[in-house]
Amino acid sequence: MAEIARGLRNVVLTETRLSMIDGEVGKLIIAGFPLEELAPHATFEEVLYLLWHDRLPNADELTTFTQQLSANRSLPETTLTVLQVAAQNKLPLMDALRMGVDTLSLVDPEPEATSIEANLRRASRLLAHFPTIVASYWRLLHGQEPVTPRSDLSHAANFLYMVNGQVPEPAITRGMETYLNTVVDHGMNASTFTARVIASTRSDMTSAIVGAIGSLKGPLHGGAPGPAADMVFEIRERAARSGRSVAEEAKDWATAKLQSKERIMGFGHRVYRVRDPRADVLGGAVRQLFQQTGGLDFYNDARAVEDAMLQALEEYKPGLRIKTNVEFYTALILHGIGLEPEIFSPVFAISRVGGWVAHILEQYAEDELIRPTTNYNGAYDRKWVPLAER
Ligand code: COA
Repeated sequence: MAEIARGLRNVVLTETRLSMIDGEVGKLIIAGFPLEELAPHATFEEVLYLLWHDRLPNADELTTFTQQLSANRSLPETTLTVLQVAAQNKLPLMDALRMGVDTLSLVDPEPEATSIEANLRRASRLLAHFPTIVASYWRLLHGQEPVTPRSDLSHAANFLYMVNGQVPEPAITRGMETYLNTVVDHGMNASTFTARVIASTRSDMTSAIVGAIGSLKGPLHGGAPGPAADMVFEIRERAARSGRSVAEEAKDWATAKLQSKERIMGFGHRVYRVRDPRADVLGGAVRQLFQQTGGLDFYNDARAVEDAMLQALEEYKPGLRIKTNVEFYTALILHGIGLEPEIFSPVFAISRVGGWVAHILEQYAEDELIRPTTNYNGAYDRKWVPLAER
């Protein structure tokens, strides 16, 4: 029997020009750029163009691309109706996003077209709708009317405008851009793999993206930042109640979790054995954001929580090198931007869909069916027993 690579650990599926991860030294390259070179400077539109076209756009190309996205923000009537029904049933946000994106097939003006150009147009339409679906559903869930998107705002600023009904300050928009850029693509993660598997059957782009949303929903992938934020809030509250320091409360919290064999969200990674470089980039952006908006107390407490978690993980899981991952700092930056933990996973999807699209296009170009095998460990030679005799 062939050797099993459980979880496909260390299995190299294919080649990609989109991102490179070195888990031993903590390095992430996005389409040729070290993450720290790209994420704090670019707009999300520039990063999308880079991933989809393998180069940065010039001014004219960026204007055309930005207009293409902003022209596709309004939701079709059916999508809005689905979101309204979902809100009446209080469905989780990721489920509403998945169902909302699925309805976009209804308004695809060229459903049969599969050329690269047609898929790029489809990708722009899908991606442009993500923030509107998430923001509209968030407001519906909270008994508010959705806010009509504005075409004169950037992708990042318009999303926050649709959530809050107010145009965000430049520092907040910059924080959002840096977050979106930081998590847009990351090798063969589970949701990207899901998208590529679906695309490898020559299925359509919308199906691949809907499948990827389902994969991202899981707590081991995109579901971690909400609980990571809740952890920091809870530990701060405990410290405020007890009069002890945040570090002391965090130590007790970590000990209790690890003794009961629970995982600490925002720590550990399948590939990184050192600190996740995305945590560093977001860490810098978070500090800058809190300096400008006046939340440094929260930032310092969160750092104390991080230190306590790292110490406890080293003590209870020695040698496993479980370090801070992107989700811990995602929690801090999205909190600093003013978003609630429940919306964190769909906001991750608003970014990652850019990477999914690029991988789907690569997969279409490769045109190789992804189909691993299994070793059978069931019974042999069973004999058929008629129903009446069972
Ligand atoms: N808290 C506590 N223990 C953890 C841990 C965490 N965050 N991450 C890994 N471990 C432990 C596991 O319990 C296991 O311990 P054991 O060997 O004593 O049973 C060991 O480390 C290996 O775990 P495994 O799940 O095989 O490692 P992995 O490389 O597949 O894990 C994650 C990757 C992301 C699934 C894992 O680190 C995790 O669950 N993290 C928390 C969720 C999270 O933050 N996800 C976002 C990722 S960006």
